[in-house]
Amino acid sequence: MIPSVFQVVHRYVEYPGTFTLHLAKPRQSTEGFQPGQFNMLYAFGTGESAISFSDLANDDGTLVHTIRAQGSVTQALERLREGDSLGIRGPFGRGWPLEVSQGKNLLIIAGGLGLAPLRPVIYQAQRDLLGAHKTYLFYGARRVSELLYRTELQQWSRSLEVVMSVDYGDNNWPGHIGVITDPLQATGIDGANSVAFLCGPEIMMRFCIQVLLRKGVPESAIYLSMERNMKCATGLCGHCQWGPNFICKDGPVFCYRDIRTWFQIHSL
Ligand SMILES: Cc1cc2nc3c(=O)[nH]c(=O)nc-3n(C[C@H](O)[C@H](O)[C@H](O)COP(=O)(O)OP(=O)(O)OC[C@H]3O[C@@H](n4cnc5c(N)ncnc54)[C@H](O)[C@@H]3O)c2cc1C
Ligand code: FES
Repeated sequence: MIPSVFQVVHRYVEYPGTFTLHLAKPRQSTEGFQPGQFNMLYAFGTGESAISFSDLANDDGTLVHTIRAQGSVTQALERLREGDSLGIRGPFGRGWPLEVSQGKNLLIIAGGLGLAPLRPVIYQAQRDLLGAHKTYLFYGARRVSELLYRTELQQWSRSLEVVMSVDYGDNNWPGHIGVITDPLQATGIDGANSVAFLCGPEIMMRFCIQVLLRKGVPESAIYLSMERNMKCATGLCGHCQWGPNFICKDGPVFCYRDIRTWFQIHSL
């Protein structure tokens, strides 16, 4: 698949080193995509990185991606300014199975940048398009200054049950301090009637899944988004192989029941 050229139409910094780009393709609307899918963003002359959609498809055809500058490609993407161009291939992968939350409690559990691929799900829940009985957002970050989408978090708390936790709080922080598993553990939910979508560091997902299972959430109702290095994103090169799965085409969102064996092997 050949990358299409897109232009940065809007750029803002979420917090130092993490930024959101709004991207438009000149004279053409973009293809549809599912929340949880990703694009390969190509910084010309440097390379490509897998980046999730962090917003729903916009009527004006712009795509939204939230990126943390980590290495060569994401740092090159960070240097882009409004009017600059980049290449895009996608959308790729399997997204969140939104239909499973119909009539259930929906537990959205995010760690750090893991909130980005879950934000489109939150938008759908807010618009009452998922038919969930009740929606909870559990969001953990390292520091208060590293919370994503801070203005929106306040808005979301009006319609969703939002529970936040930071590793290092300050005197003005009203939320929990520590790991997000503590407030998750303390929340009274009917586990058997709940589904959970998780995205964040693997260690955080491991502990949250243990809590969810203890609360009676079925393995078949737990979905998580996995990350591995990607190259082709089309299931051909094998870079993202994880057990018998290719994360680019069988994932990145998997049902825990289907990948339990591989998820339990820590360094796979
Ligand atoms: C399906 C999928 C969706 C993703 N969505 C997003 C997103 O929405 N926003 C975003 O910022 N990133 C996302 N990523 C991660 C992103 O693809 C990588 O961080 C990026 O490819 C790093 O490329 P680089 O060339 O900048 O860094 P590299 O030069 O490849 O790496 C720089 C440093 O970062 C480390 N590193 C690289 N990748 C990761 C990683 N995934 N996790 C932790 N450390 C890493 C490397 O070990 C190295 O130390 C996603 C990855 C996948 C597989
Ligand atoms: S990135 Fe090539 S097989 Fe997945």
